[in-house]
Amino acid sequence: MRCKVTILVILLIGLITSMPVIAQSRVLGIVVKVDQPKAAIQPTMWGIFFEDINLAADGGIYAELVKNRSFEFAKPLMGWKILKPDTTTGVLIINQSESNPVNPRYARISIAVGEKSFGLSNEGFRGMGIKKDMTYHFSVFARQTEGSTMTMRIELVSLAGKIIGKASLSPDVKSWKKYSVSFISNATESKAKLNIWFEGKGSLDLDMISLFPDDTWKNRPGGLRADLVQLLADMKPGFLRFPGGCIVEGRDLANRYQWKKTVGKVEDRQMIVNRWNTEFTHRQTPDYYQTFGLGFFEYFQLAEDIGAEPLPILSCGMACQFNTAEVVPLDQLDPYIQDALDLIEFANGTPDSKWGKVRTQMGHPAPFNLKMIGVGNEQWGSQYIERYIVFVKAIKAKYPDIKIVTGTGPSPDGKDYEYAARELKKLNAEIVDEHYYANPEWFLKNATRYDSYDRNSYKIFAGEYAAQSKFTCSPDNQNNWQCALAEAAFMTGLERNADVVNLCSYAPLFAHVEGWQWTPDLIWFDNLKSFGTTNYYVQKMFSNNKGTQVLPMLKGNKPITGQDGLYASAAFDEKTNEIILKLVNSTDKVQNANVLLDGAKRLAPKGKITVLKSDDLNRVNSLDQPTLVSPVEQEFTVKGKTLNQELAPYSFTVIRMKQLK
Ligand code: AHR
Repeated sequence: MRCKVTILVILLIGLITSMPVIAQSRVLGIVVKVDQPKAAIQPTMWGIFFEDINLAADGGIYAELVKNRSFEFAKPLMGWKILKPDTTTGVLIINQSESNPVNPRYARISIAVGEKSFGLSNEGFRGMGIKKDMTYHFSVFARQTEGSTMTMRIELVSLAGKIIGKASLSPDVKSWKKYSVSFISNATESKAKLNIWFEGKGSLDLDMISLFPDDTWKNRPGGLRADLVQLLADMKPGFLRFPGGCIVEGRDLANRYQWKKTVGKVEDRQMIVNRWNTEFTHRQTPDYYQTFGLGFFEYFQLAEDIGAEPLPILSCGMACQFNTAEVVPLDQLDPYIQDALDLIEFANGTPDSKWGKVRTQMGHPAPFNLKMIGVGNEQWGSQYIERYIVFVKAIKAKYPDIKIVTGTGPSPDGKDYEYAARELKKLNAEIVDEHYYANPEWFLKNATRYDSYDRNSYKIFAGEYAAQSKFTCSPDNQNNWQCALAEAAFMTGLERNADVVNLCSYAPLFAHVEGWQWTPDLIWFDNLKSFGTTNYYVQKMFSNNKGTQVLPMLKGNKPITGQDGLYASAAFDEKTNEIILKLVNSTDKVQNANVLLDGAKRLAPKGKITVLKSDDLNRVNSLDQPTLVSPVEQEFTVKGKTLNQELAPYSFTVIRMKQLK
């Protein structure tokens, strides 16, 4: 008997210890006032901020495969290797800045008498990503010198040294001419190089040596990398802010972004160094330049393609204040202001206006419908306010309907922030850009940031934000789930306050896995592949579930901003007649949301629920596991106007329910 009892006890203990641990679960009583919409959500609410940092443009979304294609880098042959250097044959870099100041250098290849061939090899941007059976378009500006008869053999070569695609060209005239040839690659290779062999006699001049894949976005020749644009399009962004960021300002004024130098023919766009090239000693990128193949026309076109409002940011006559902090004297701001006025004409002017004509000649007679423009990026101090005033006066005098975006500098609080906020409020600023780079705890805490914001003040553009797993500018920051979840919590606060928060964007956007300077970033890529981070999916879920009006969502008559570790917001979509709930469970416990849809009309029998979660806060997506943390969507049965939803630990949930008419 005693033995039987012992066995029973052992069995029971075994049973208990093998049973799944039922996580502690709380019931949260939530009310959504469906019939009391609070405010409109602007179509621009969730957008994208593009900056050419981390090889985002050259080596990234701009699909050019040849690095230093026109020999204009500080070291003219950077990215190029001479094949057969032992020959007396050579390459000479010629600078014709007198006759061509925007693209002064070219290469002269000479084959010495008695030599057979000579070659140049381009390494691409950390290699070239080449796809099997894909067509590649090679082009070059070339001319033969007097008496020369040189031909070119073009080879794509794999890392192992195998030729995976080839073509040939025979430039036939003595004046500059563009030659093109297309060929198909027979293998996929992420680190190919381009070899060009020269044969014959004499000398051949070369410039703008270029190689593009055929499968660019919308198959545009010389266009953008389709996989990267697709990731942006999938976000359905409300706006596209470009081209930066500090890139707008330049480390010094000479290297500020000047949009006029980025439009027209690519060979006439004057290249400059990228300011991120030497910014961080721990992430030097000496081969980082801006060819402006992705220039202002292409930015506007990209915005149009993905249905986003364009938001260009211009230099206000101040170089980056973290670097030289140079300023243009107030009485010499005219060219900067003229750039802003001309940009509006470039975007919106009729085809017979000076700058509208440039746009038309580039293939876009219709206006781009520019509605907003940014004056300066992340400036601070009285020197900014003084310059901002001059810009506003001039822009509003000519274009009263254009909204002007200004900013409070790099920090969301502190002396400089408060000064700028106070001055901009006095000046009746329209939209003010605030930047938040902070730890995940800051994001959780600041979900309430705009709950008590002055409703009579300017509108907010949450223009740059990202939770930092270590600290800002640390090379060890991770795009982990803890950061993404904290951002989701913060974003419920932005949505709840959509009456004042009108635009929001994560920063930075892109990073090449081998060429980055700044982390974390929303989308990472190598030469062939790309993936959205955990943060990307948070952004996408907000943007794809935007809604048109904010609905009050309350627990115990208060907004849900961290009580029981829960953060939530609700919206209504007038276009689809749907109620949209967003719930972030930041705890390690299952929680049960009991949501009363107060004032709702009859609901459709099926709703949609999308959950993004991970039980590991350190989890990240990667090139090898691109969707490790990604949304899972399913249908559910709607039972009346009370919803009981289990919220998984560390989860972000979006629920859509349709109201029937
Ligand atoms: O997003 C990276 C940088 O952070 C931006 O260029 C700048 O605006 C901010 O300091």
